[in-house]
Amino acid sequence: MSVLLTGGAGYIGSHTALELLREGYDVVIADSLINSSYEAVKRLEILTGKDIKFYQIDIRDGEKLDKVFEENDIDSVVHFAGLKAVGESSVKPLLYYETNIDATISLCYAMEKHNVKRIVFSSSATVYGVPDFSPIPEDARRYCSNPYGWTKYMIEQILRDEATARGDWSVILLRYFNPIGADASGMIGEDQSGIPNNLMPYITKVAVGTLPYLRVFGNDYNTVDGTGVRDYIHVSDLARGHIAALEYGKDFVGSEAFNLGTGKGTSVLQLVNAFMKVNNIDIPYKIVERRPGDIDEYYGDPSKANKVLNWYAKHDIEDMCRDSWNFQKNNPNGYKE
Ligand code: NAD
Ligand code: UD1
Repeated sequence: MSVLLTGGAGYIGSHTALELLREGYDVVIADSLINSSYEAVKRLEILTGKDIKFYQIDIRDGEKLDKVFEENDIDSVVHFAGLKAVGESSVKPLLYYETNIDATISLCYAMEKHNVKRIVFSSSATVYGVPDFSPIPEDARRYCSNPYGWTKYMIEQILRDEATARGDWSVILLRYFNPIGADASGMIGEDQSGIPNNLMPYITKVAVGTLPYLRVFGNDYNTVDGTGVRDYIHVSDLARGHIAALEYGKDFVGSEAFNLGTGKGTSVLQLVNAFMKVNNIDIPYKIVERRPGDIDEYYGDPSKANKVLNWYAKHDIEDMCRDSWNFQKNNPNGYKE
């Protein structure tokens, strides 16, 4: 029996593949490589000593996806595949709706056809929009502020409807907070091409010398030190959350959402200071204007995942800073030679 990972060559998918392989699961990866590299799959093979069944396909192509299900004994799916750049989604909304939603519908048809009934979906804390308060519970009001977020919102609904219609499916929606870090081996990590939008990839590019300094977007927010507060979670903890969800899904019928976060907020300057201290490296920064659309503070309430999935985030901010730098330092150009 294998777990199919759509988008399994990407940042979170590759870390989840690694944890699954380490725990003895068989995995099959289907990824178009539109935002990732086959090098990640090769490194997974080196790290685990196992051959990985890999299909370079766009999962919207139903015929090719069918072949993946025909050629493998798949019993569950973790669905990472999709486009994820928030800014780009506002410029190209149709591309985001088309890609993310069509991919999910194509996947559901294939699952129906091949009688696969368990799916874990990569949702996002972005579905909470501007939250009324933190820590945010799963039943908080949901509203999105960009097309990327709406695709997550809509896919959650599509999967819930599919669970209701089929009657015997298990649909687990995982709402990630801010994943950072990398596997402790330093072999796989977040490989962002171009200038990053997110904070940690920007910090590591400053650390490696690709970018001159970090721009801190505002220090007049209503937070501990005026800079934005987020719930950073180590990607390896997040990866283990998928295993907990897959195990839970074995005896569960219906649909259920879980926050995957630490429940703790960390400000931009707290993260920068932790990075400098743990890695003994200077990160020059300048305070600049607020980034439009940013909110002051949000962090999740992970108690439902703690209780129901028996999952806890183990790594702290120092681990996240050390492991993010470890990957960047070993791979200054990411997966490129
Ligand atoms: P990623 O871009 O590294 O991984 C996504 C993978 O999907 C890539 O390897 C890409 O090549 C592949 N892909 C995209 N469209 C495809 C298609 N139509 N067919 C086949 N493969 C396709 O992103 P990630 O950070 O690993 O995120 C994984 C999932 O988690 C995404 O759905 C993302 O929206 C969600 N998520 C990410 C974050 C984050 O901060 N990284 C936060 C919340 C949710
Ligand atoms: C972003 C996405 C969100 C997604 C989340 C996790 C936007 C508007 N939102 O949110 O949808 O779910 O990532 O992937 O892109 N910061 C700086 N300088 C930088 C970069 C960031 O000061 O160069 C600050 C931001 O103002 C924020 C914090 O760092 O306070 C975190 O930013 P970021 O990593 O982009 O994450 P989110 O804002 O949570």
